[in-house]
Amino acid sequence: MSFANTVRASSERTQSRIVLALDVENDDHQALIMKCNAILEDVEEYICAVKINRQLVLSLGLPAVSELVKNAHKRSLPVIMDAKLNDVGHTNSFMMRSYIHAGFDAVIASPVTGWKGGMDSVFELARKRGTGVILLVYMSNPGAEQFYSMITSTADGQKPIFERFAHMAIEWGADGIVVGATRPEVIRQVRSLVGPSMEIYSPGVGTQGGDAKEAIEAGATYLIVGRTIYASPSPRNVARSLYESIK
Ligand code: XMP
Repeated sequence: MSFANTVRASSERTQSRIVLALDVENDDHQALIMKCNAILEDVEEYICAVKINRQLVLSLGLPAVSELVKNAHKRSLPVIMDAKLNDVGHTNSFMMRSYIHAGFDAVIASPVTGWKGGMDSVFELARKRGTGVILLVYMSNPGAEQFYSMITSTADGQKPIFERFAHMAIEWGADGIVVGATRPEVIRQVRSLVGPSMEIYSPGVGTQGGDAKEAIEAGATYLIVGRTIYASPSPRNVARSLYESIK
């Protein structure tokens, strides 16, 4: 099954569009692993996938993170590695192989490298191994417009760079794209460019100021939510109320 279909099936099973960003921090490794597993258990029925960041890989190391991936899989939840890959081919390939070996179902990559000698290695390996690639199209942080809205000029005219990224995602066969929830107008614009079948993952809900309903109404398929859930006194209650608000 393709990654897009795996997440779709998971989303249909739990009736949720929430991807949990598990960015928990703790200097004590055992406590960190226990906390991650406890949050997963707490909110599993209100989410459709889990996203892990490089921050957790740096804290725990890939073997321990791989155990977390297994735990999510036991709960039938696909897991995304937010690697924001953007290096040259041979190091991209190494990182892809490592994340695939650790059990991740998809990896987030940045199209800024272009295809040849950059993203080609990521997509080729992903295709061979049945792993998804999600491309970054527009970030959620306040300063993102300095780069993602930059007007670029080529033979086909002038366009903001994020529109070119959205076209690259289609051309390269990405399994989804990331557009920040903090800019629903950009989600709307990207949705009109990529059509209805491309999955849009939207981070930035809650703590970063993005509104869940607005992002979904603008065209986001899934919401990536971290601190609003895991840093709350009751992750389960927050996940449930977010789940109900967009159901
Ligand atoms: P919070 O705690 O703000 O965390 O809900 C959001 C999560 O999403 C990641 N993030 C992004 N990932 N493009 C991405 O690929 C983005 O624009 C973006 N903004 C936030 C962040 O790393 C965290 O895991």
